[in-house]
Amino acid sequence: MFASRTKWNLKPNRLAEALERHKSSGRRLVDLSASNPTECGFKYDARAIMRSLCAPASMQYCPDPKGLKSARQAVTDYYAERGEGVAVDDLILTASTSEAYSFIFRLLCNPGDELLIPTPGYPLFDFLADVNDVKLARYPLFYDHGWHIDMHALKQAIMPRTRGIIVVHPNNPTGHFTKPEEIAQLNQICSANRMAIIADEVFLDFALDAARKSFVANTGALTFTMSGISKISGLPQMKFAWLAVSGPEAEKREAVARLEMIADTYLSMNAPIQWAAPVLLRQRMAFQEQLMARVRANLAELDAQLAKMQHVSRLAVEGGWYAVLRIPATRSDEDLAIELLEKRDVYLHPGHFYDFPKDGYLVVSLITPTQDFSEGLRRVFSTI
Ligand SMILES: Cc1ncc(COP(=O)(O)O)c(C=O)c1O
Repeated sequence: MFASRTKWNLKPNRLAEALERHKSSGRRLVDLSASNPTECGFKYDARAIMRSLCAPASMQYCPDPKGLKSARQAVTDYYAERGEGVAVDDLILTASTSEAYSFIFRLLCNPGDELLIPTPGYPLFDFLADVNDVKLARYPLFYDHGWHIDMHALKQAIMPRTRGIIVVHPNNPTGHFTKPEEIAQLNQICSANRMAIIADEVFLDFALDAARKSFVANTGALTFTMSGISKISGLPQMKFAWLAVSGPEAEKREAVARLEMIADTYLSMNAPIQWAAPVLLRQRMAFQEQLMARVRANLAELDAQLAKMQHVSRLAVEGGWYAVLRIPATRSDEDLAIELLEKRDVYLHPGHFYDFPKDGYLVVSLITPTQDFSEGLRRVFSTI
């Protein structure tokens, strides 16, 4: 009765089962994977946010496949405030970054065409690819005093049906930005092979040292840049995201026209959220200040605890909300995560969740409330 693209193994894995058991036990959990910003103790201007959703103009239906011009203007203003230019006409609004990915996959790929994704990386792509009949191939990142793209392996992964390269900038969970020389190489590879760059920038604003440039003005190859207020303003429940198209003019125009048709097929943006966009985007100032203070405090706590440990370290973080711990691989990361959950009431993600190529990696969220973060780490380090 059902399409084979949905023939997933929906059985929960051992760690998910252990988590369910823990939840039903009623014991307090120290959650070092906490990444829902609305549940991490940040203060939001609830009055301003709720008021922004009541614009009288929302009573009128004015469909625009790309999204209301005023909302797209708010996105253009966001980039202008970062010192980067994107034209209102080159933007398409979507309900989420995931929806933006789907639009791009539908635009670029026939069934069975391929896209390259980074590994380690965020475990969202497999399902997105399945529902869009796209195949994924992985290009490795390697760690050597910071994360780098293995360009040789990336080039070898390109097949006749490869249509694009996905970069997450900064990547989740490795927290590294794509370097300018890597961007130059990606442009060269993509333009030579008639492929596109797909840049996921949901964590762009969360750089720990110097602010980094967006892909939004990249013109060396056809480029799709995605972001949204899920992370930027810490408002994932509001469902406001976008994709920006840049690149050689003729390809860009053709891509925008076709994307407009895809967006017109769904018209998924609702009016209140679009009228609220300028206010919701402005919330990022207060949110990002709190979030960066939390990330810095947690990193300092992590480093203080690591200073007392002999065989555990953390990998360098340039931005984003996560830290990767390097631990002795004396058992599988999943076995360790289950033991931590069952015996120490701590939950974190084993590296294989993000497709780390071997055991010996744990991922912790740096937006966990600091007291929990500190207590959780103590329990982890006394177990390893
Ligand atoms: C790298 C990355 N891209 C996209 C998303 C999803 O964003 P959205 O809520 O806009 O779909 C996430 C969520 O965690 C993410 O980590």
